[in-house]
Amino acid sequence: MNDATDCWDRETLGVSGCQRCSSLVESRSQIVDGVGPTDTNLLFVGEAPGANEDEQGEPFVGRSGTVLDTELRDAGIPRADVRITNCVRCRPPENRDPTVTEREHCRTYLNQEITAVDPELVVTLGKVPAEHLLDRSVAVTSEAGNIDEIDAGETSYPVLICVHPAATLYDPNQSDVFEKTLRAAAEHAGDGGQSALDEF
Ligand code: URA
Repeated sequence: MNDATDCWDRETLGVSGCQRCSSLVESRSQIVDGVGPTDTNLLFVGEAPGANEDEQGEPFVGRSGTVLDTELRDAGIPRADVRITNCVRCRPPENRDPTVTEREHCRTYLNQEITAVDPELVVTLGKVPAEHLLDRSVAVTSEAGNIDEIDAGETSYPVLICVHPAATLYDPNQSDVFEKTLRAAAEHAGDGGQSALDEF
């Protein structure tokens, strides 16, 4: 944990009652913050809450969450040991992708969270967080397992590109990619090593 952790507080940041996105204020039933320890090596970043997350107030608790939990467990990463968050903290209507403006509105919160956690590795789950954080177009399937870098505040962080857990529900080939990426994440965060990344 570092000093920035003290800044990660809903009230201080103004997340509570955030009104920045008029459409999301209408569609959300609550704001869904990240969960998990702030003194972890691994920070997972998804897209935005869906219906289950909006109802329960926690990221990745629906079908995608079940996939994520299973694959994390198989990779030897207890969910309780990592931080899981989203680019956007309010559920978009009809589960549409969050717009670029909505992502930008939420970026202050995400940057503060990244700084507070100060992870060894940020893992992006799907195209939206990869493109948002890396600020470029990303072909997730072909780039899964690659490490890039982002700036959050004054520090840069390695980012491991990963497919979205939901992709594995529709395309079984993606399960293998997802599994390998999480094993690479476990290894990278565990010892700062690169060996599992060589599998790609
Ligand atoms: N998909 C996401 O990207 N985030 C969630 O929290 C749930 C599903």
